Amino acid sequence: MAKNFFVEGPCMLEVTRGTATINGGLYREGEKIIVHADRSYLIMCSDDDCIRSLSVHGKMREANEVEVKVSEEWITTAENITSDCASTDKCTVLVLGRTESGKTTFSETLANRMIYNKITPCLIDGDVGQSTIGYPGFISSKIINKRVLWERKPQSEYSYFVGDITPVGHEYRVVIGLTNVLNHYLTNNIRYFIIDTDGWFGDRSSSLYKLLLVQIIKPTHVVCLANNKEECIDFKNAAKKLSPDSKAHIVSSPPVKKERDRTTRRILRGEKILLSELNKIKLNISETPMIGEISLGIGTPTQIPQELKQVVGDVLYAEKQFDKVIVVYKGREIKTQLRSYVFINEKRFENMIVGLADPTGNHHFGIIQGVSLPSSSIYILTPYQGKIDYILTSRIKYHEGTIVKSVD
Ligand SMILES: Nc1ncnc2c1ncn2[C@@H]1O[C@H](COP(=O)(O)OP(=O)(O)O)[C@@H](O)[C@H]1O
Ligand SMILES: [Mg+2]
Repeated sequence: MAKNFFVEGPCMLEVTRGTATINGGLYREGEKIIVHADRSYLIMCSDDDCIRSLSVHGKMREANEVEVKVSEEWITTAENITSDCASTDKCTVLVLGRTESGKTTFSETLANRMIYNKITPCLIDGDVGQSTIGYPGFISSKIINKRVLWERKPQSEYSYFVGDITPVGHEYRVVIGLTNVLNHYLTNNIRYFIIDTDGWFGDRSSSLYKLLLVQIIKPTHVVCLANNKEECIDFKNAAKKLSPDSKAHIVSSPPVKKERDRTTRRILRGEKILLSELNKIKLNISETPMIGEISLGIGTPTQIPQELKQVVGDVLYAEKQFDKVIVVYKGREIKTQLRSYVFINEKRFENMIVGLADPTGNHHFGIIQGVSLPSSSIYILTPYQGKIDYILTSRIKYHEGTIVKSVD
């Protein structure tokens, strides 16, 4: 009889006897487990044949030796890190690897082993592309105090808006964001962190960026996941020079997993956004300024000269900001290059993903639905209902169920 299984979603499982271990979490007889459509797991039984599938969908087969070996290696690594952390009062684990290497699953496994051993970790989702805890474009975080298994629903407790679904070109924003989230918890006396990162890894540019993270965060442990361990060894050697006290762990990626191509990952990002759970709010830029890709409400409203009005056509709003005048207009694109003016087409705001900063520095998710600039009003869809200090603008948009870069 089989003791270990490979399962692929979508399906619902039931523990039939003994216990089943999934991603380091223990499930007892009678418990049901949902395996989402784009996930696969390795299940280890305490007894022979501990689970059955309750659905006709998905896949379930006996796991092979290599798959079991990788899972055991993960559990051993997670246990070793957990026991290290149990003997100190501060622990920061940085999880690295390429896309689909198993970073999120390993982070969950570690979190499960920690809570099993009475440590309450904070899980920080630093992957702005394939967000797990929060919305795409955000660094999200959550304190884990009970067994976890991947969920689709956004559930972040504290977030930082990076404003793109790739870290490329925004490396410093990711570093600042992670530092900000870490500091938020440190001031609240949380001392154990697991940081799941984006999948930009394996070449020199991405390694320099990940080394910057090591340099700034000074993790106690760095976990690197790969099929080809070479790339992890190279990284480990470089990291050692920048943060000699960090312990490096190199672990294997699962040999077989549910295939997710680029399109699936793109759809997954969009699925995080449940429009029905968002409310429409109205903000006024004179009270709630915008900062970032487009900045408005930080200067003084002004008029533009008559001759310029003829070139621009329909001017909706103009604001003097330092040495420049920002002009928001409607209609056809303007090509005019004038050094002291910045022209913004009203269309740039439509469906823009934004971060809504509350007084504690927590950034909430929002989508700009429309602007009515002659009256300085901004309409935003958001799950958030509290006070907003300012709006962080970006270059990403919500378009037909997915997130796209806006072209301007
Ligand atoms: N041990 C494993 N056996 C089979 N599939 C796995 C295993 N670990 C992870 N997976 C699956 O592999 C895919 C990628 O894993 P994930 O942790 O999301 O990687 P990453 O965060 O590095 O992109 C997911 O579908 C996940 O369910
Ligand atoms: Mg991931």
